[in-house]
Amino acid sequence: MKVVVVGKGGREHALAQALLKSSMITDLWICPGNSGMQQAGLACAPYESIEDIENFCVSNGVSLVVIGPEIMILSDLKPRLEARGISCFAPSAEVAQLESSKLFCKGVLKEAGVKTAACQVSYSLPEALKAVDEHDFMKPLVVKADGLAQGKGVWVCESKEKAREAVRTLSEHFSFPLLLEECLQGPELSAFALCDGEDFVVLGTACDYKRISSDPFSANTGGMGAYSPCDFITPEDHQDIHSIFAKTLAHLNRKKMPYQGFLFAGLMKTAQGLYVLEYNVRMGDPETQALLPRLRSDLTGLIVKAVTHQLKNAVCELSLEVSVHVVAASEGYPSSPMKLGSPIQVATVNDPKVDLYFAGVSRIQNELVNVGGRVLGVTALAETKLAARSKVYQQMAQINFEGMYLRQDIGL
Ligand code: AMP
Ligand code: GLY
Repeated sequence: MKVVVVGKGGREHALAQALLKSSMITDLWICPGNSGMQQAGLACAPYESIEDIENFCVSNGVSLVVIGPEIMILSDLKPRLEARGISCFAPSAEVAQLESSKLFCKGVLKEAGVKTAACQVSYSLPEALKAVDEHDFMKPLVVKADGLAQGKGVWVCESKEKAREAVRTLSEHFSFPLLLEECLQGPELSAFALCDGEDFVVLGTACDYKRISSDPFSANTGGMGAYSPCDFITPEDHQDIHSIFAKTLAHLNRKKMPYQGFLFAGLMKTAQGLYVLEYNVRMGDPETQALLPRLRSDLTGLIVKAVTHQLKNAVCELSLEVSVHVVAASEGYPSSPMKLGSPIQVATVNDPKVDLYFAGVSRIQNELVNVGGRVLGVTALAETKLAARSKVYQQMAQINFEGMYLRQDIGL
């Protein structure tokens, strides 16, 4: 079977590597992938536009496409591939609003009976400012833009002044509606399911490190590292995660919007139990790089079952080992990464429990160089988080490029 993975980041590198463990695959290409993936022996096809990807799949007899980034999930790539008889593992653009509209997501969560923060919706500036004035600020107020905002759409506001500023700034940049949400408290985790429209398997959990440094007020990033599994949830929480996905998928089905694809729940463990902060309609980056190396089940087999609606009774087996993933970024990330194009020195990885994933890299004059914010990442598996952490930083110590930046506290 011939498979294409769409995307070019560390997440797609990890997805491709996990898919390739299956004996079902004869050929796999990443579109467009990157030079680091090529160096690691993966086949990349340099196509990024919907039309080019479609043509490539048709002319090469590809039968399954797995899409990584949400932007391509929201495009018309899936219907175009399906019209050509090619299976595409991704949700429809309609149900992908779970990620692209927080208002849509809130509606689904409420109607499905899934716990989520109470929220008020404002459609105009006077309405939003009035709601801010009525809030007592005994607890902060969370102000959110409705649409995709690349991590810049959520302000947690401790004071009336800050909330007013949030309303003004977010409405200017992203327009209305805005959501004004109750502020929840507790540690956060990510949970992942693989869904066939009706049935699903829980893939597992991971925790990511969103800030550029250990300072909780430092800049938000795409993610500077992750570990898997989440180590602060109980067996009851695991049952709750299952029930959150089950209720959501059943509700979407009743609404005639069956969900097929990866589903990523951003959760908070509060004193009142697990709450859903958001859904994403894709795998997380870098959670995927932490989670998938633990997968013992055949990912390709599970996806084939999902696109043929045969996931009922499928199981997903994970290694009991713990993984830690650390991202190396270019200096200046996330505000103004210095994409210097400086050569990357990478020592060969000899440990089967260590994986290297490439993201913002390119090849110039036959050398691998950094050209992106997040450049690469390393995952290590071990019996404990501490042991995995020690392994991952040992490997990172053998990687170097000018301005390389990484957090030292991942997995602590
Ligand atoms: P979201 O894009 O909705 O997941 O929000 C991004 C981040 O904002 C989350 O990972 C949380 O850290 C924070 N956040 C979002 N909603 C809330 C909330 N209701 N209470 C507390 N923090 C929140
Ligand atoms: N790591 C968070 C995300 O992929 O959205």
